[in-house]
Amino acid sequence: MPETTPRGLTGLAFGGDYNPEQWPEHMWQEDVRLMREAGVTMVSAGIFSWALLEPAPGTYDFGWLDRLLDLLHDNGIRVDLGTPTVVPPAWFYRAHPEALPVTADGVRYEFGSRGAICHSNADYRAAAANITTRLAERYGAHPALALWHVHNEYGVPVSACYCDSCAAHFRRWLATAYGTVDAVNEAWGTAFWGQRYAGFDQINPPRTTPTVGNPAQALDYKRFADATMRENFIAERDILHRLSPGVPVTTNFMTALSQCDSVDYWAWGREVDLVTNDHYLITDGRRTHVNLAMAADLTRSVAGGAPWLLLEHSTSGVNWQPRNPAKAPGQMARNSLAHVARGSEGAMFFQWRQSRRGAEKFHSAMLPHGGTDTRVWREVVELGASVDSLRPVRGTRTEADVAMVWDWHSWWAQNLQWRPSEDHDPRERADTFYEALYDRHLTVDFAHPEADLSPYPLVVVPALYLATEAAGNNLRDYVEHGGTLVVSYFSGIVDEHDAVHEGPCPGALRDVLGLTVEEFSPLLAGERVRLTGPDGGELHGDVWTEFVVPRGADPVWTYADGLTAGRPAVTRHRLGEGTAWYVSTRLGADGLDTVLGGAAEDAGIAPRTDLPRDVEVVRRTGASGTYLFAVNHTASDAKVPLDAHGTELLTGERTAGRLAVPAGAVRVVRLDG
Ligand code: GLA
Ligand code: ZN
Repeated sequence: MPETTPRGLTGLAFGGDYNPEQWPEHMWQEDVRLMREAGVTMVSAGIFSWALLEPAPGTYDFGWLDRLLDLLHDNGIRVDLGTPTVVPPAWFYRAHPEALPVTADGVRYEFGSRGAICHSNADYRAAAANITTRLAERYGAHPALALWHVHNEYGVPVSACYCDSCAAHFRRWLATAYGTVDAVNEAWGTAFWGQRYAGFDQINPPRTTPTVGNPAQALDYKRFADATMRENFIAERDILHRLSPGVPVTTNFMTALSQCDSVDYWAWGREVDLVTNDHYLITDGRRTHVNLAMAADLTRSVAGGAPWLLLEHSTSGVNWQPRNPAKAPGQMARNSLAHVARGSEGAMFFQWRQSRRGAEKFHSAMLPHGGTDTRVWREVVELGASVDSLRPVRGTRTEADVAMVWDWHSWWAQNLQWRPSEDHDPRERADTFYEALYDRHLTVDFAHPEADLSPYPLVVVPALYLATEAAGNNLRDYVEHGGTLVVSYFSGIVDEHDAVHEGPCPGALRDVLGLTVEEFSPLLAGERVRLTGPDGGELHGDVWTEFVVPRGADPVWTYADGLTAGRPAVTRHRLGEGTAWYVSTRLGADGLDTVLGGAAEDAGIAPRTDLPRDVEVVRRTGASGTYLFAVNHTASDAKVPLDAHGTELLTGERTAGRLAVPAGAVRVVRLDG
């Protein structure tokens, strides 16, 4: 059995992507000396090195990597070794131009960037298996080797290829999934617009069509593209397992919904030995630390609650957004430790030394262009020491309070064309529901719609447009057995083939919600509706309204104006021992908070009025003890109540009663007990 934590690492991982091939070899000594100064325990290497390792077909140059691994090993630095299969060399594409991916419009990408891969291409598959085999044979038992890092960020920058090899592969995939072409016709509803296929050979990828194409075909193509990338991951992983027994294999995910939308991480989480994630702050106007917490919670959930590892984030600004602000003093450490609070076994960065050349020279690094006499470097050294003092948390698990149902397939389906409103964005709903829970100081696990939800007193469902019958039954069971559920509009509408469930909407959820929806009535841009509720309260919705017909549920909030005036807007359904809430319009975080307040009361979750906004409190617990992480994202000093005595790990101070967390700082208390 492969191990599930980086081999040979006794504390948390601290370090980054190390690309020494960008620098003259005499600088490696300085790199390693500075790594030791910063407390680096692990680096990721070789991710983009194929052209150096195999300069011509079948000609290998491992000398530099031998010297590098030995140097790192002599200095006690562990290595997360990449298979470079995200960047086949120029010679490969000269020989196999058809391995370059093709867009839905029929444009073939060129060599000269990275990730230009058709995952169905047989020559690519053979070449990737070969270089992986060579690396595994040579380094599989190297004493520096801690972890194998397959490929890089599957799913970006190319999420699907539409070439002829992919077309053939898609037909085989469909034949396996459906058996007969008639089953495909049935599932895709090809009776519509005369799209019926008489044989698999007539089916193509969903390439550009004059107007909207078949949605079920597009949805299956997302599944196919995801499964095809996973086939290639598994092929490399199995080579590594065979030739490098025991060493864990990972590939770096990008679970943040803003960063990758083409990979079903529920499926991928089951295939890796250790879940690792890359996370970058997106400056889109939302609070970046809330998005970070969400990505970290989602990553932990993909790992089934087990510890995971933050393999990349940035010390300061990135260089691929329209505007890339630097991080404020202290923000890097806050980001890093917030990931650790939510289950990461360390904090790694892209990258160690800032590049002088290439596309990422304006991306921050641990060692900036300015060298060691810089704020970033000083903060890196300080963070290295902090991470070292957190070694006892290794192996402990983050405790969650509530769950959010999330499904990539449902997301894909919801983003298909020709929906009732283009203003409804399922990701926005997930973000806003998360934000409302975050502001109630609740730690969130994410759950697949068919997963066991019984551990959670409260489950929210912000965007489950596609819900299988099994998912519907699962949610009903959960409520009947005492759970509290909150469901957002346009959920439970279609089955796995994007076909509307039989009977009135929302087919998969009408029993549990105790209602039907006669019509959707999205609002025009900028339009708002007023909701009136208990005790004369008022809320506002936008984007979406519905004609809700209660069939067992009680109205709690009612539309006061608009087309749906007088109809229920928010309902509550007592079912078995539990309660199911339904929100039929789009509420902002404040409005949602009001609804969640009622639901939390049903769930028996007391509000945390003792914690200031943006002071994050999360617990990790396990054999070595219970650790309370307090992250102060505000500009004021804060006090966090403690229910036990303890020792603060970053300062070594004893704590009791109330924990002082200075403005912008993080504190981690090991509670006595
Ligand atoms: C991704 C990649 C890295 C680098 C960073 C920059 O996460 O994996 O190679 O490009 O982005 O932010
Ligand atoms: Zn292809």
